[in-house]
Amino acid sequence: MTVYEILRVLADGKFHSGEELGQALGVSRTAVWKHLQKLDDLGLEAESVKGRGYRIEGGVDLLDAEVIWKALPADIKPLLSVLDVFPDIGSTNHFLMSEKTGSGEVCLAERQSSGRGRRGRLWVSPFARNIYLSVSWSFNGGAQALEGLSLAIGVAVIKALEGLSVVGLSLKWPNDIYYHGVKLGGVLLEMSGDVSGDCRVVTGIGLNVNMPVIAAEAIDQGWVDIYAVAGRPIERNEIVVALLSKLLPLLAGYSDAGFNDYRQQWLSYDAFKGRSVRLLSADNVVRGVAAGVDESGALLLQTEQGLKSFSGGEVSLRAET
Ligand code: BTN
Repeated sequence: MTVYEILRVLADGKFHSGEELGQALGVSRTAVWKHLQKLDDLGLEAESVKGRGYRIEGGVDLLDAEVIWKALPADIKPLLSVLDVFPDIGSTNHFLMSEKTGSGEVCLAERQSSGRGRRGRLWVSPFARNIYLSVSWSFNGGAQALEGLSLAIGVAVIKALEGLSVVGLSLKWPNDIYYHGVKLGGVLLEMSGDVSGDCRVVTGIGLNVNMPVIAAEAIDQGWVDIYAVAGRPIERNEIVVALLSKLLPLLAGYSDAGFNDYRQQWLSYDAFKGRSVRLLSADNVVRGVAAGVDESGALLLQTEQGLKSFSGGEVSLRAET
């Protein structure tokens, strides 16, 4: 028995006696009690009331592969080949990069101990509060056919959230999901294989849904979560269904469609358009006015030396203050 199994019973927020929990999980009441102590590590607390048992006040919004699968539209299901949900993992991107090889393989986790962000940063990934989702897809036609893919993913994430009435979102180049100048989520693409032939892309998406303030202390920039933007709670399973319903068709059709189909939409969500910015790389700073993106997804900056384009990589965009 794991603490996660107990949690699946207590997730409903109702009281369950030690005896009932022990019977449901085939262990003694003492074993139940010992496991309940481990909830602390997950940032959860079980209330214990004499004569009534244990409960987690307010319940826990757990991910459920079956619920997600059932809710996916019929035309999306054939695009999904594997749906794994882990209670705890290092990184969903790393799992797919090292364990899977094909298309339509999806990995979700309740918590990541080494969540990867862009530019080598750690992605803060507390238990059962946010979305940590990765999708693997194989392409042929090489890296060139994938130009702009990470930007298109950003558009798909916003469209998915708009479908749930989470509105007012924008994109910070290349693919940060923003809301009024603070970060709601990010996208990390990792590639393996032959850059000029058959390759595989793992798309990782991290979205703050109901971020605990204590965990957020480790975030080194302004942030917001979906509960705050929407002004209401939204179940994470529902968010995952909305995301997969946009992402899987995008990945399946990207070799044919390319960035052209997404560029205008990206521009309509551009958070920095017309603003004075700095583009930082390890050894350089370029100043200019943000002028959208070109057909390949490269950032356009109007600089003193004229219009310049900048492709992805280890760069960071900042507004001039
Ligand atoms: C960024 O820095 O903006 C990108 C963050 C990407 C985080 C997600 S969470 C799911 C997937 N697994 C990871 O380890 N990282 C990505």
